Amino acid sequence: MENKIKEIPIEYIETDEKIVSIRNAQSEEAIGRYMEKYESGTSKPISVKEIDRQHYILIDGHHRIEAMKRLKKRKIDAKIIDVSDKDIYSKAVEENVEHGVSLTKDEEENILLNFIDTFKSDEEIAKVFHLARRTINDRINKNPTLKMARTAKSKVPTINYFLEGKKQCDIAKDLDITEGSVSQRIKNWMDGIKELYESGTTKEEIINIQDEKNINLTSDKLNELIEEDLNKIIHGDCLKEIPRIEDGSVDCVIIDPPYGIDFQSNYKKEKFDKIKNDTNDSFKLLDNSLEKVKPKMKKDSHIYIFTSWKVFDKVKPIIEKHFEIKNCLIWNKEDRGMGDLNGNYAESYEMIIFATQGKRKLYSEKRPMNILNFSRTENSEHPTQKPVELLKELIENSTKESQVVLDYFLGSGSTVIAAKEVGRKWLGIELEEEYIDVINGRLK
Ligand SMILES: C[S@@+](CC[C@H](N)C(=O)[O-])C[C@H]1O[C@@H](n2cnc3c(N)ncnc32)[C@H](O)[C@@H]1O
Repeated sequence: MENKIKEIPIEYIETDEKIVSIRNAQSEEAIGRYMEKYESGTSKPISVKEIDRQHYILIDGHHRIEAMKRLKKRKIDAKIIDVSDKDIYSKAVEENVEHGVSLTKDEEENILLNFIDTFKSDEEIAKVFHLARRTINDRINKNPTLKMARTAKSKVPTINYFLEGKKQCDIAKDLDITEGSVSQRIKNWMDGIKELYESGTTKEEIINIQDEKNINLTSDKLNELIEEDLNKIIHGDCLKEIPRIEDGSVDCVIIDPPYGIDFQSNYKKEKFDKIKNDTNDSFKLLDNSLEKVKPKMKKDSHIYIFTSWKVFDKVKPIIEKHFEIKNCLIWNKEDRGMGDLNGNYAESYEMIIFATQGKRKLYSEKRPMNILNFSRTENSEHPTQKPVELLKELIENSTKESQVVLDYFLGSGSTVIAAKEVGRKWLGIELEEEYIDVINGRLK
């Protein structure tokens, strides 16, 4: 944007102490030179920030104002610069640099100290001086006073570099600190942000708090950070992936583990392979996975585990080892299903063990019943596909909006689809690649 030039009464122009301190002293020689230039009409305008029509702050032109005063002029040409209070000092340095002032060593050190004190990164300082970032980095690292100041104040530039997307090894090099302290600082800062958010601080307030600390957090970046580890499908073995989830972050786990009954859909044989891990090992898998997921769940949280009467006696003691069982819910599938059509009763229900860690309450308005009536699915995406509507009911009974639901035996993804539909955050893990594609398709 073109800066406006205006003729301003000199008495309206105020000086700012910090800006004045950019130069150690006024030079009589420079004032004399400007007096000549003004008389010959060749001096450039000074630069000011406009507060209102009678108040301006001088950004650059201290010698020129002095020259005009000595020439007994009342008005001076000024370029009006649109700059925030926060950036006025850097702008003043930049203007000095641009009109070719050669700073003394002391002046430069003082400016760099000021920048370090206000948490400017090398990148930002380099822009002001119109120099390469490497040059600024060298100047700071070669000067013991500046280096000490930078080490003491490097927390904020570390975070700002991280937010700019710089690699941790490069941050460490630039700030001359170890990579370990870079990652520790980033982790502590991110934990702080998540804590603020979870304790109810709004996103706008979080951004303002960071701004006061000179941390350049944008709302896009904040959204990315808060949801970074959520709302995603992980392709892998739950025993390896669960440990990567943040401790104490999950409100409700819903799993439909491989059954341990060598299940194979009779009438869809051609379409589906046997379910992975659907053998006796599945009890070990369930036990290990519950052990691993426990610390990832909130102190007070819920867990639902789909099972069948055929394995109930094996599954129940495993769950009791880790959680307090509250109920066995019955999913009434409301139809007769398939199987030995004349030899036994139609299998028309499945069991869901409902258990707690700690003392979490149910959120439903009316006390929910332990029989849940929902039509079975067509199993079109998975041989044991669960109805999204049933899962929505469980999720709404156990969580509030934005709380976190985890299913680490995701299958065709019914749990995360339900969680998404009711505005919860979610995480899912599935071993089989073909189902990852199915889930992604359904999530779209
Ligand atoms: C019973 S199915 C879940 C079906 C799901 N409820 C649905 O509605 O589509 C169990 C799933 O767990 C997956 N699985 C088995 N072992 C696993 C493991 N170690 N880690 C992650 N997923 C696993 C299987 O591939 C299978 O898709």
